[in-house]
Amino acid sequence: MINIKNINSRLIEAQYAVRGKIVLRAQELEEKGKKIIYCNIGNPQALKQKPLTYIRQVLSLLEYPDLINNPAAEKFYPKDIVAKAKYILEKNPTGTGAYTQSAGITFIRQAIADFIKKRDGIPADKDKIILTDGASKGVQSVLTVLLKNPNDGVMIPIPQYPLYSATLTLYGGKLIGYYLDEENSWQLNEKVLEESIIKAKSGGINPVAIAVINPGNPTGAVLSVDNIKMIIKFAKRYNLSLLADEVYQENVYLKGCKFVSFAKAMHEMGEKEITLFSFHSVSKGFLGECGHRGGYFEIRNIPEDVFEQIIKLQSVSLCSNVDGQIVTYLMVNPPQPGEESYELYEKEKNGILSELKAKSEILGIELNKIEGMSTDVPQGAMYAYVKFELPHKKGVDPLAMSEDERLKYEAKRDSDYCMSLLEETGICVVPGSGFGQMPGTLHFRTTILPPRNEIEDLVRLIKDFHLGYVKRMKEN
Ligand SMILES: Cc1ncc(COP(=O)(O)O)c(C=O)c1O
Repeated sequence: MINIKNINSRLIEAQYAVRGKIVLRAQELEEKGKKIIYCNIGNPQALKQKPLTYIRQVLSLLEYPDLINNPAAEKFYPKDIVAKAKYILEKNPTGTGAYTQSAGITFIRQAIADFIKKRDGIPADKDKIILTDGASKGVQSVLTVLLKNPNDGVMIPIPQYPLYSATLTLYGGKLIGYYLDEENSWQLNEKVLEESIIKAKSGGINPVAIAVINPGNPTGAVLSVDNIKMIIKFAKRYNLSLLADEVYQENVYLKGCKFVSFAKAMHEMGEKEITLFSFHSVSKGFLGECGHRGGYFEIRNIPEDVFEQIIKLQSVSLCSNVDGQIVTYLMVNPPQPGEESYELYEKEKNGILSELKAKSEILGIELNKIEGMSTDVPQGAMYAYVKFELPHKKGVDPLAMSEDERLKYEAKRDSDYCMSLLEETGICVVPGSGFGQMPGTLHFRTTILPPRNEIEDLVRLIKDFHLGYVKRMKEN
């Protein structure tokens, strides 16, 4: 039998906090009958968000195509839904049960290119778009392509979504962390980027790429266009490829904030030398179709022979799943005004987005009022990254510790805190050490996804818990 000592040690080393120890404990407690409020993962439909009728109606017809040509279909489905299902089947006559081209179905790639053109007012090429099983698989493909030697490194934000750190550990690349500026609504800071890359280079690391998450997970920040342009210039200065994780592009709530894609900013700057990989997904936005595993990445400025290698890589796993491809098509091709399903679609979409906005405000404003806790009202995405303070035992100063000691000390403090929060209140959040945080600070990440009445309870429960926890620490 294989054993833990002779399997891939990089797998053992890789960490993925959003599904870690605390979540396992939450599931155990739930089995014993405790009510758990899952705030650990951006999985909207697991938290009672209803799927859009449009998506599920089209999918249901395509999964059972005999229905499409049955006159009964028009009784149960709006006309435009039946017409759309017919069109998709015509364009992809092999249906949902057959493999497709490695990069994905051609008319869907064309629809994505049209969506980018319309969103950004820039040209887009269907032949540089690859459909994937969610954005995660796209990021992993791109990292496979970029990491040539064990000392190749990728710049990753701190805090970050752990897909990046875990994949780098798995694939044997080096992580070059750069801190986001909490004091400046979590934007990127040029001086910090410069310091991180210089330190990495002087340590023998060869930086090959920079990953940016906009809107941010776990920070909820929406990057300004100036910040994006600064990052593009920085990438060019150091000859880095750019990975733009834009899965939350529809999730922008705060007035005055606007999503701007890296593709658009690069186009405006006339930048033609650095390679850009942009990722999008059906999991977030107002679709929340995480289980359907759909998404794509678009590439700009790539030599043809390299692109062929990426297609070869995709072909090793044949193609992304066809339902995911279809949901991606429906995401970029919503019902149009005048079509029968338009009104309901708009109502459901606006309902979901306005609930998310309201919940982000309640969480941001109310958690910020708790003594010893601070957070911004999330500008976008689906999370609040909350800073909290705990007393230290006499004579303990984390900033005087070695980096390893400090990381262990802080990871224990925020994990113990989140575990106690779970045990006492049933609220499941993720400790900041799973995403990264400034030395000497502690955080947890909560989603804004639970239903509104639960969010109100959640704030009250967190407040009572926090005050009690700090009091107990002071007494011991
Ligand atoms: C920033 C970010 N990128 C990528 C993903 C993965 O999304 P997908 O479900 O499309 O793989 C997530 C999921 O939470 C995310 O937060």
